[in-house]
Amino acid sequence: MPDRCIQAHQANSNPLYMDIGSQENDPLKEVLDGMRQNRRFLPSKLFYDKVGSALFDEITTLDEYYLSRVEHSVLQNYLPQIAAVLPDNLVLIEYGSGSSLKTEILLQGLHSLQAYVPIDISREHLIAVSEDIRMRYPNLNVLPVCADYSSHIKLDLQHVDSSQMAVFFPGSTIGNFEKKDAVNFLTHIRGMIGSGGYLMIGVDLKKDLDILLPAYNDARGVTAAFNLNIMRHINNRFSGNFDLSAYSHKAIYNDSKGRIEMYLISAQDQVVTISGFSFAVKKGEGIRTEYSHKYSIPEFGELANCGGFEVRQVWTDDDNLFSFQLLVAR
Ligand code: AVI
Repeated sequence: MPDRCIQAHQANSNPLYMDIGSQENDPLKEVLDGMRQNRRFLPSKLFYDKVGSALFDEITTLDEYYLSRVEHSVLQNYLPQIAAVLPDNLVLIEYGSGSSLKTEILLQGLHSLQAYVPIDISREHLIAVSEDIRMRYPNLNVLPVCADYSSHIKLDLQHVDSSQMAVFFPGSTIGNFEKKDAVNFLTHIRGMIGSGGYLMIGVDLKKDLDILLPAYNDARGVTAAFNLNIMRHINNRFSGNFDLSAYSHKAIYNDSKGRIEMYLISAQDQVVTISGFSFAVKKGEGIRTEYSHKYSIPEFGELANCGGFEVRQVWTDDDNLFSFQLLVAR
């Protein structure tokens, strides 16, 4: 890693390389805007408070939630091939690093990394995970950045050659963006890494509904609890009074849009107040909490092209449930 970057980290005692977490889009405004729409929605990023993150970790272990399990095995199985097509001396940047669980596979397979840059909005968790990685990989330069990556952050990694940057965006989180936002996000990454930079991305594929629907309607109700927790989080953070017992989880597949849609359905006419603003919610009304788009390989190729990338290689499992794709910025 260039000297100045190492010094930036070492000179101040801040365990973070960069802290721009406070530049997060105003989440209360996003909640109120969503509640003012005819078709109401709550911003999915509010799933991930402490309880929600723990529930999501639990979802990733469910039998029905094939995504994490299959992506993990694709990464494991093809690691030598993935490592072979990437150049040495890469700066590995991970968007929404969370517990960096999947990164572990890459850290073990890519031996000549220049640095690892985990980016996450959850400051304490990011610091703890980064310290743990530093302990276990003492030769790796770990440069944690606290930021809301959905708000198009500017990462100023000095002296780094763009063709040496590889962004890692696993888990099919790209599916949670509406298509136009997905293209904007890819365009933003492309602008940051420049021509020749890499994007390694997990993309969930279209498939039979008898596999897809249970992944979002698991038998133990963990996804339902995860969905409802967004209301609890809003209550705690923005003085809200959503009555969690008066909403139920619903996840459907919208075939024409190619996506799972999650809603919280109101069991009765009710009024909710958030930060002093009141909203009447009708019996049977659904408040949308998430989209999770599923792509065919050609469909995602087109999206990647619109965002300024070429698809270099695609790896999938034998049942074509999930893909891990290597894109190169044009
Ligand atoms: C984070 N994201 C890719 C998950 C998904 O499958 O869209 C979030 C999730 N929602 C319900 N279950 C998991």
